Amino acid sequence: MDKIKIVGGTPLSGEVTISGAKNAALPLIASSILVNGKLNFTNVPNLMDINSIRLLLEDLGASCKVSPGCLEVDGSSIHKIEAEYDLVRKMRASILVLGPLVARFGHAKVSLPGGCAIGARPVNMHLTGLEALGATINLDHGYIEAKADRLIGNEIYFDIPTVTGTENLMMAATLAKGTTVLRNAAREPEIIALADALINMGAKITGAGTTIIAIEGVQSLNSCEIDIIPDRIETGTFMVAAAATGGDVLIKGCMPDHIGGLISKLKATGAIVDTFEDSLRVKRKTPIKSVDIKTLPYPGFPTDMQAQFMTLMTIADGSSIIHESIFENRFIHANELLRMGADISISGGNIASIRGVDKLQGAEIMASDLRASASLVIAGLIAEGTTVISRVYHMDRGYEAIEKKFSSLGANIKRIK
Ligand code: EPU
Repeated sequence: MDKIKIVGGTPLSGEVTISGAKNAALPLIASSILVNGKLNFTNVPNLMDINSIRLLLEDLGASCKVSPGCLEVDGSSIHKIEAEYDLVRKMRASILVLGPLVARFGHAKVSLPGGCAIGARPVNMHLTGLEALGATINLDHGYIEAKADRLIGNEIYFDIPTVTGTENLMMAATLAKGTTVLRNAAREPEIIALADALINMGAKITGAGTTIIAIEGVQSLNSCEIDIIPDRIETGTFMVAAAATGGDVLIKGCMPDHIGGLISKLKATGAIVDTFEDSLRVKRKTPIKSVDIKTLPYPGFPTDMQAQFMTLMTIADGSSIIHESIFENRFIHANELLRMGADISISGGNIASIRGVDKLQGAEIMASDLRASASLVIAGLIAEGTTVISRVYHMDRGYEAIEKKFSSLGANIKRIK
């Protein structure tokens, strides 16, 4: 298994270009199931999770053509409605095929995703939403089976804004009879990107990006070209890394509007953040001030940036509080940071108190999930001495060529096979 070795202490400097967003690409690729034709994707990141959803679609019968940065998916040959355990267990976002399958074929069987390192992550709202659209749902031997002759539009209220739940039901509702209204919908940029693409395919959707999304069902959707939006979490990860190392980095090909919560918190730490139309520059010359954060659904501070921000706070002046309000077990990285000399205490499971220390020390540490692995890379970049991170397959799920990108910014980082 690959490891990442980092010798810390170099301020990052230079330019880096952001890849396409994993969490936008996954639902967009799943939406190919809705179309009896081809979708052509560009700015596709080269990631394990993208590979996983492509393999799942191929298993369903889709024919896919891959070239660097591009993916063509022809959904006309899909003939299977079952997403098997072996494919779903590799990536929870496989649940995104459920809505499209039942909408187009009237029948879907999808392995029930289990919990993951960061929490139980139930999919109950996906299922009650599909039931509201007239599907009958059965849970049998670890599989979700959904059936409906044709889905019928309805009002759906989400108890909590759910990103993939909103996406699944928005996709399902595009081919339903009549109008569906999603209330308390998630407002993430990835939802808008999906709605824009579905509209280009012929769907009738209004309100994406607000808490109320209306979808008027149509008979069929058509082929189109889809450019994947830049990854706001990769953008944020480089922003925090630039600030943490006391560097000066121009982050290109990103959308600063999508990461406003982080920009304001980074500015409060004393970092200088200059935003341009499709790039931003982060530099830091003064000591880091401690800042409290609470993770919230978009446009609040993203849970997917919590671990990286915690690393920054480990070397801040004074104490800070991080409140993780989205997932119940998303502080696993804190234990690894402790091994590097950080001063962190966790109370009630979702509140972390961090007292800044002068420096972190390099150590052998282990990644537990995707964003935790990014926080440990940043920790390695600022630590004194050598850090070796194992289980970096977590990172490969969602960061394209991260060690190459950090290395081009002057970091002493390499992958050990
Ligand atoms: N929830 C339920 N029931 C449901 C669905 C969600 O109780 O049926 C709860 C969850 O347990 C959680 C909250 O609702 O407490 C929000 O979860 P959400 O459904 O929004 O999460 P998700 O759709 O499974 C996506 C991202 C995650 C990101 C979260 C939150 C994708 C593929 N995944 O997950 O990304 O952390 O939204 O923003 O879009 C990552 O990229 O590292 C990652 C974990």
